Amino acid sequence: MSVDPLRRYRLIGVIATGLIATAVPLWLARRAVDPPARSPSSAKPPTFVGRHACRPCHQQPYEKWLGSDHDMSMALADEAHVLGDFENAALHTNGITTTFFRQGGRYMVRTPGKTGVVETFPIAYTLGFEPLQQYLVAVPGGRLQCLPFAWDEQRGQWFDLHEADPRPPGDWLHWTGAGQNWNSMCAQCHSTGLRKNFDPETNSYQTSWSEIDVSCEACHGPASLHVTWAKMPAMARPRLDNAGLVVNTKELTARQEVALCAPCHSRRSELGDLDHSGTDSVDRQMPSLLSEGLYHADGQILDEVYVWGSFTQSRMYAREVRCSDCHDSHRLTLRQPGNSLCLRCHRADTYDTKEHHFHQQTYRGAPSAGAVCISCHMPQQKYMRIDERADHSIRIPRPDLTAQLGTPNACGQAGCHQDKPLDWITDAYLKWYGQVTKPHYGAILAAGRAEQSEALPQLSRLAGDVLYPAVVRATALELLSRYSSAESVGALERGLVDANPLIRHTAAVAFTSDDLTNFVERLTPLLHDPSTAVRAQAALRLADVPVSRLKPYQLTARTEALDAYVKGMTHSLDFAFANHNLGQLFERLDRPKRAEQFYRQAIAIDDLDFRPKINLAILLNRTARNAEAEKLLKAVVNHYPEQYDAHYALGLLLGEMRRYREAEHHLSRAAAGMPNHAGAARNLSAIRRFLRQRQQ
Ligand code: HEC
Ligand code: HEC
Ligand code: HEC
Ligand code: HEC
Ligand code: HEC
Ligand code: HEC
Ligand code: HEC
Repeated sequence: MSVDPLRRYRLIGVIATGLIATAVPLWLARRAVDPPARSPSSAKPPTFVGRHACRPCHQQPYEKWLGSDHDMSMALADEAHVLGDFENAALHTNGITTTFFRQGGRYMVRTPGKTGVVETFPIAYTLGFEPLQQYLVAVPGGRLQCLPFAWDEQRGQWFDLHEADPRPPGDWLHWTGAGQNWNSMCAQCHSTGLRKNFDPETNSYQTSWSEIDVSCEACHGPASLHVTWAKMPAMARPRLDNAGLVVNTKELTARQEVALCAPCHSRRSELGDLDHSGTDSVDRQMPSLLSEGLYHADGQILDEVYVWGSFTQSRMYAREVRCSDCHDSHRLTLRQPGNSLCLRCHRADTYDTKEHHFHQQTYRGAPSAGAVCISCHMPQQKYMRIDERADHSIRIPRPDLTAQLGTPNACGQAGCHQDKPLDWITDAYLKWYGQVTKPHYGAILAAGRAEQSEALPQLSRLAGDVLYPAVVRATALELLSRYSSAESVGALERGLVDANPLIRHTAAVAFTSDDLTNFVERLTPLLHDPSTAVRAQAALRLADVPVSRLKPYQLTARTEALDAYVKGMTHSLDFAFANHNLGQLFERLDRPKRAEQFYRQAIAIDDLDFRPKINLAILLNRTARNAEAEKLLKAVVNHYPEQYDAHYALGLLLGEMRRYREAEHHLSRAAAGMPNHAGAARNLSAIRRFLRQRQQ
């Protein structure tokens, strides 16, 4: 079994680079324990009390929630929760046989473990429910690992999530590897009141939860104050804002409600443990932008991105539609079946008609999918091999964009007529709906992804246009930052003072200036930003600005915000990227010893991550430890022949070590791979000149 390391890296990249660009700190503890207007007698922060405390007084929401997907999100592996066949069932995939059986009342699995040797493991927990269920195995260090063998509830059979892309033991994504570790990769979204508690000293976890599944307080926040208050006789109750509850669901705006679901229903980087205090989706977490690999250029779903990034693109979100308009908040089911869900707001005589969708109501005796609103407006895509998820951007199908950009459309590739050529679809569309003249931001984002120079003014306009969704504007800004021009700098400067935190954050990550005074003047106001994520990012960018350049109050703010950044990274020290980021930070802060420590930890966690290796090599070179530096860089170029930065660093290093022929080889690789890199070209011609002179 062989794996292509580059491919593997790309996969990590999808998960980890998102975190690198955007990973941000813990939501400050002081806010975590600050529900609005508590009475003085109850100065203690509220704690989690569990659903059983709510049941006596809120029977109805309790009954609805019971048995919902939230209730089933994780459970002990017992009779009541295990769906899979454990009566000596077997699964054969990629030459491996896995058996599932019972032993002394426990659920067991026999499959190759960490070393590739077949072992027997007891199942500790279930994860998920429908349409598939996964299983967790406890291993040393407080770790729970996710088996790739899942139970398909509809078909009643076992299947291998990694069948098409098998992972050998030792691989990051093998079930025993860090990529399939529940503590870091899954836990926060599948349980309530989760504390990850990773200890880098012992490389172990003491992860805890208040409740194993997504329970009442996952949305309503820790409710001890409310329960204490409610148990008092009605006359004796003090006046408490929102009855002591952290989240005010009674007066929740549509945006706040969507933000309440966002921590778990978005692709995002973790900002520390969830604290349930806020209703601003950017302060508590950093959602992913509409990035390549995650979304199609026009913002349709591609990878597993959950719902937030899609729904916030929709016109319905812009017009204050919320999750609970369609889903029951407790049972989670749709408020009405079929088209009647949509017809609660949209006119049946306009849209539920053949004049609108041009399809028969029935096809071969059955209701036709062509007359169902969501077939066209929420096309589905499969994840985890069998799980259909609906695109919540609720858009108008655009086969014309398929022709122009190659993005899927609900009529064809993403929907019903996958067997038909595109012409057939565009012809029918033209006949029914006429020529589409409305421009779509997808065209601009696609041009930006391709770094076309004509796209620059359009990206700049899109980034600044408040009529477009924030996630689209932030994506445009991120794409703009790849151009270096006065126009992109101008757009980033405007982004720094935008009203939306997602846009300020994107600008803070990318803003550059040749003029230090300008750089400092533009970024220092963000040290006081209401969003922790933005403050931390500003502090990171300003970390090595000389003290003399900052006013005393700015220095204090920088220290505090940098502390928040370090705390956020510390939360994720079980990932290579966080160690790498701290390595870079401490190098900039002129603390090479600490930097070296973090780089080495990053390499220990993920031996295939090349960035800490390159940075550590450069650091070692500064203290004349060239032999080890050479070894690191050689490892990188052997594994990633197209890592031209590493070729460049290695070329310079070998030149310094007077091994000119080898130096020339790597510099020429670097110059060929990075034609616009002035340093590579200059050093290559210098070394060639030198070699020629030596020959003469
Ligand atoms: C002893 C009875 C009691 C218990 C136990 C209790 N509540 Fe309440 N709850 C109340 C009362 C009474 C109100 C009405 C407060 C008001 O509006 O003045 C309320 C209001 C609420 C509301 C706001 C409802 C609205 O109007 O929007 C929520 C949400 C809520 N409770 C959640 C919970 C949760 C979650 C728990 C368990 C952790 C819980 N409650 C436990 C009595 C109780
Ligand atoms: C603490 C994390 C968390 C929060 C907060 C959360 N969810 Fe979920 N939600 C999950 C998980 C995990 C699942 C999948 C559970 C499973 O299938 O096992 C899920 C599943 C769902 C489903 C799918 C049900 C189905 O039939 O497939 C809906 C709908 C849903 N959530 C809506 C919401 C809404 C609306 C909110 C906000 C009001 C919300 N969730 C808040 C974690 C969360
Ligand atoms: C960002 C939050 C988040 C993380 C992290 C997360 N999940 Fe989920 N998971 C969800 C949500 C939300 C759903 C429901 C999705 C849906 O139906 O759209 C879900 C559903 C599932 C399901 C049930 C299938 C289904 O659709 O109901 C399984 C199994 C599952 N997740 C396993 C995992 C595993 C294993 C990990 C870690 C490797 C993980 N999840 C990490 C949020 C998360
Ligand atoms: C996925 C998030 C979520 C979970 C989990 C959740 N709620 Fe709610 N709850 C909401 C939202 C949002 C509202 C307000 C809007 C609505 O009713 O849809 C609400 C409203 C309420 C209300 C006031 C309205 C009513 O229905 O009486 C009570 C009481 C309540 N929830 C109690 C509970 C209890 C008890 C649990 C656990 C058994 C629970 N909630 C679990 C999100 C949640
Ligand atoms: C709670 C009310 C509500 C419900 C329920 C609802 N919509 Fe909407 N929908 C709206 C509003 C408001 C708009 C924005 C109208 C506008 O901007 O003029 C909208 C806009 C749309 C648009 C236009 C999108 C665009 O980009 O131009 C489509 C398509 C749509 N809805 C489809 C649906 C479908 C399909 C359903 C059912 C799954 C649904 N709607 C359910 C309120 C609703
Ligand atoms: C066969 C595919 C198809 C079906 C089924 C369908 N639509 Fe549409 N819908 C479209 C197309 C294409 C457009 C854009 C052209 C247009 O505006 O007529 C559109 C546009 C819309 C718009 C935006 C209109 C505007 O003026 O911006 C709404 C709202 C909408 N549909 C709602 C619905 C609802 C509700 C249903 C179900 C009752 C539904 N659609 C069923 C294809 C469909
Ligand atoms: C306009 C109605 C509408 C709104 C608003 C809406 N949903 Fe959905 N949701 C649906 C429909 C329809 C489905 C698909 C159900 C099906 O395929 O049978 C769905 C499915 C889901 C699922 C199951 C997996 C999937 O992706 O298909 C999750 C999870 C979910 N919604 C979460 C949310 C969250 C969270 C919000 C708010 C941020 C939200 N939804 C807002 C209509 C809506």
